[in-house]
Amino acid sequence: MKINPFQMERWQSTWENRVQFNLSESGVHPMTPLELLELAGADPQQLLGQRLVYNQSNGTDELRELIAGIYPGATLDNVLVSNGGSEANYVTTWKLLEPDDIVVMQAPNYMQMWGQGENFAREVRPFRLLEERNWAPDLDELRDAVDDQVRLIIVTNPNNPTGAILTEQEMEEIVAIAARHGAWLIADEIYAGAELDGRRTPSFWGRYDRLIITSGLSKAYGLPGLRLGWAVGPADFIADLWSYKDYTSISPGTLSDLCARIALQPETRQRIYQRTRSILNENLAPLEEWLAERSDIFIYVAPRAGAICYTRYDLDVGSSQLALRLKDEQSVLIVPGDHFQMDGYVRIGYGVPGPELLEALARIETVVRSLVS
Ligand SMILES: Cc1ncc(COP(=O)(O)O)c(C=O)c1O
Repeated sequence: MKINPFQMERWQSTWENRVQFNLSESGVHPMTPLELLELAGADPQQLLGQRLVYNQSNGTDELRELIAGIYPGATLDNVLVSNGGSEANYVTTWKLLEPDDIVVMQAPNYMQMWGQGENFAREVRPFRLLEERNWAPDLDELRDAVDDQVRLIIVTNPNNPTGAILTEQEMEEIVAIAARHGAWLIADEIYAGAELDGRRTPSFWGRYDRLIITSGLSKAYGLPGLRLGWAVGPADFIADLWSYKDYTSISPGTLSDLCARIALQPETRQRIYQRTRSILNENLAPLEEWLAERSDIFIYVAPRAGAICYTRYDLDVGSSQLALRLKDEQSVLIVPGDHFQMDGYVRIGYGVPGPELLEALARIETVVRSLVS
């Protein structure tokens, strides 16, 4: 089976650990295990003494219970733990899609499931977020795109790369359109908890029966290296989904399951969100100042969640070329709009420590100046 390359992920995988300044990441500066344990008031021996067995392969019962606790009415039977949100997305699309199927996906978006739609199904149709409406969804386009042939609708809420959040009415309308045609809905909610104003994004959970939520600890929790994610859905669907995971990675890492159980204790979870929110609010201000000083070049809608700012630019250079120059000349990694099928935009991550962000912006400045002079 031939697959389409996942451009952004390959770009990041190749360079993010090789550049000096990684502004390609969409989550906040990751924690160390020690920081996590300190935040939780947990004993390091708990981690060091953990025997490295094959874990319960759909996630330990305790972890699945903690995850279920985030979604009112869910029980551990509604939860499958995965290696990162990306594995949850992968197995869910793998299970749902057949070669004749049509997928409708919010755009711009994290392009994993767009790629999966192209790999597994017949067609992927976009429904767009409109910049001129602060990245609100074009629901007319969604209505037009969805017919009885559509098997699956996909949204990421809060959205990557825009950091936009759907309103309750928009969510209800998306569900109503899916229900009218019996389509499945996947809501990737991995940025929930990373809102700048601290107001938790409402979940799609509980609004529809043909619904899968995917999420994980990589973004709002600052724990991407745990590779810990989940899918939440109807119990019979989740039971089936588990057998797909038998073919991918078997179980989550034993230490990851344990760290996730520590991170998801209700009090610790709130402390982690607080840490995330502080980083977001401390760093967005200097980034916005920098962008405001260059408002003749950069036009953007302020993000509401996630450590990412998606901005249009007025420079005579393609986004991939711009990103390449920044990497090669300044050792700064950003994500070109091309990776979201939107040239003329860049995604700048601002979750890194403040001094790093300032230095990286100064380096971006050098390249920008060379392009305007
Ligand atoms: C919307 C979205 N879902 C999933 C992922 C991947 O998550 P993970 O690192 O937990 O596999 C990302 C990563 O950028 C993302 O933006």
